[in-house]
Amino acid sequence: MTYYNPSKPEHFKARNALLQLCMRPDPLPFPVEQEYPIVLAEQGKEFSYCLNHNNRICSHANLWPRTVIDRQNREKGQIGLVGNVATDPSMQGRGHMRELLSNLEDIANRQNLDALVLWSDLDQFYHKLGYESVGQELHLGFAQIDPKRPSAKAFEGEFKLNGTFTEQDLGRMLQLRPQGPLTLARSIAEFETLLQIPWLDCFRAYRNGELVASILIGKGYDMVGVMHEWGAVDQTSLLTLIDQVATVLPYESLMLLVPDSLETSWKSSLIAYSESYEKHPMALIKYLTKKQKREDYSSLFVWGLDSI
Ligand SMILES: CC(C)(COP(=O)(O)OP(=O)(O)OC[C@H]1O[C@@H](n2cnc3c(N)ncnc32)[C@H](O)[C@@H]1OP(=O)(O)O)[C@@H](O)C(=O)NCCC(=O)NCCS
Repeated sequence: MTYYNPSKPEHFKARNALLQLCMRPDPLPFPVEQEYPIVLAEQGKEFSYCLNHNNRICSHANLWPRTVIDRQNREKGQIGLVGNVATDPSMQGRGHMRELLSNLEDIANRQNLDALVLWSDLDQFYHKLGYESVGQELHLGFAQIDPKRPSAKAFEGEFKLNGTFTEQDLGRMLQLRPQGPLTLARSIAEFETLLQIPWLDCFRAYRNGELVASILIGKGYDMVGVMHEWGAVDQTSLLTLIDQVATVLPYESLMLLVPDSLETSWKSSLIAYSESYEKHPMALIKYLTKKQKREDYSSLFVWGLDSI
């Protein structure tokens, strides 16, 4: 059996139907491919790998090469994000995914990628295939109503939700995110495309016309009530915008994803206003390089919008 990138309309149709069945069996107002507008787009066919059995698609996985950068935006390596991993239920347990993921490793090695990174609850399945936990993130819970929090009502500025984004806004949102030791490079064009994901809200706060905080919450079927990407000029601006998110959206509590590498003063003030605190591994990784000195991605943090 050989893998292939979808290229004909019938390939995309069969692949999307497989992913819909395996990953989104319950009805949603949008098809699964809209949740992944880069790796499941027809223009992104080189990131999509299918396996056939008896002339019918049995398995699929994405492999999306990304550049890892440091705080100074210097390139530190290349990794492959893996996602949308699925085998048709009638063909599961026959080694198809083991074969497809092993093919992806060969491709990733040829592309000189240092590691594969993915997000999944199926720890056992991936441990069997040589994946291990990587990175640390904090999950901070925020109550819907908290009189102690800096109030959105008292904010002397303007809030915006969704709408159109200027290139300047997008650049500023990327720049305001806390800079950790290692993260993924993202172009403005990629950011613009990813912001089209359904059920994604982009909250912004402006003071004197200048963007001072932004929060992305929700991402298709995933990250409901989770503020998975954010940035601000200071803690008060971020907490004020969290208060605005809590006022506008109907959730009893909100979760903020925080890189563990966040500066201590920021971390302690966010924790002080949160009602719960948990530490979790950020993702699963499989190192590929056979080089003597392999890259160390233990401090990698990938923002929610980049994960697939
Ligand atoms: C998880 C999934 C992709 C596995 O595909 P598959 O083609 O059935 O997997 P394989 O037959 O290649 O299994 C490889 C190994 O993993 C094991 N395995 C398979 N599914 C597993 C699971 N859910 N948990 C733990 N181990 C699992 C198999 O027993 C096999 O082990 P073995 O070689 O020692 O016998 C498939 O069950 C699926 O599509 N599930 C629904 C969608 C999903 O959850 N995707 C993952 C999102 S990241």
